[in-house]
Amino acid sequence: MFNYKLICAPMAGVSDHPFRVMARRFGAELCVSEMISSVAMHYEDKKTATLAEIHEDDTPISIQIFGHDPDIMARSAYLLSSGEYKHAKNNRVPEFIDINMGCPVKKIVSSGDGSALMRDSALCEKIITECVKKSLVPVTVKIRAGWDKSSINCTEIAKIAEASGASAITIHARTRSQMYEPSADWSIIKGVKDSVSIPVIGNGDIFCAEDAIKMLDTTGCDGVMVGRGAMGNPFIFEHIKCLIEGKEYTRPSVENRLDIALEQLTMLCQEVGEKIGVCEARKHLAWYTKGMRFGTSARGMINTATSLEDINRIINYLKENSLEHE
Ligand SMILES: Cc1cc2nc3c(=O)[nH]c(=O)nc-3n(C[C@H](O)[C@H](O)[C@H](O)COP(=O)(O)O)c2cc1C
Repeated sequence: MFNYKLICAPMAGVSDHPFRVMARRFGAELCVSEMISSVAMHYEDKKTATLAEIHEDDTPISIQIFGHDPDIMARSAYLLSSGEYKHAKNNRVPEFIDINMGCPVKKIVSSGDGSALMRDSALCEKIITECVKKSLVPVTVKIRAGWDKSSINCTEIAKIAEASGASAITIHARTRSQMYEPSADWSIIKGVKDSVSIPVIGNGDIFCAEDAIKMLDTTGCDGVMVGRGAMGNPFIFEHIKCLIEGKEYTRPSVENRLDIALEQLTMLCQEVGEKIGVCEARKHLAWYTKGMRFGTSARGMINTATSLEDINRIINYLKENSLEHE
């Protein structure tokens, strides 16, 4: 049912449709949407429908929901998996619904959502059971190691998820209180893998292809999810794939990388409008130009870009001047 090895992580404000298209082009087998509020869906929010929109070139996809009320979560799972959401842009449905039990952000956990759910295993069980019951597609769950180092309970929650009908688990090998520091503890992934029979996706600190291979080898996880390592670097998926298949990998040239950046950011501007698109494009372009010669001066220009033409100009400037730091 769940048979994906290379997965592009959900990242609010980052993993939008153009980002996912590029991740797929370079080998991501499954992409997860930015997290979607079940409560916003309950109030029939229109913007949420845009976040949940499934484009023709963006499958297979998992749509991730967050919240803490089992009925509201299950209703969202149903609406998304049936294509019946009032403001849905089309009738495409995702391959999976993913439940967010890992978000550490204060605003989210203070409402009892995201990783706060891991403090209440009975509630986790209820949410997963209800979502599995109501969803028309398989349900997966994304968790962290636990709330803090004195309450690491990911294996307990993973077992609950399996018993409640989840089809796969993603484990980000950090506690909530660790946020994103220090390094992820991959032994946590192995612990989860050893405790359940459903597929386990390992996540946390894959910044190069070799990291992915190491995670697969040392934890026995069924697949890897890449988040920050794919920012401005969709190429990482192709590199991982080559290493898995024992093929030689050729790193794309600076010019190729800039062409991909331009294509992604042009798509972004077309979808959300130039004004918002350029604001969002700045961070993506900054990631794409990391490590490029003249990248630092380009980033100064990026911060003041206000049009797609400005973005184009910066990319041409880099193409003309940039030689990569090796
Ligand atoms: C900007 C940003 C936004 C994120 N948004 C989400 C989200 O919406 N849902 C989620 O489950 N995780 C979210 N995450 C966590 C990532 O999916 C992933 O678990 C985490 O970044 C660790 O993986 P990495 O080391 O490969 O980045 C987000 C992470 C970042 C950096």
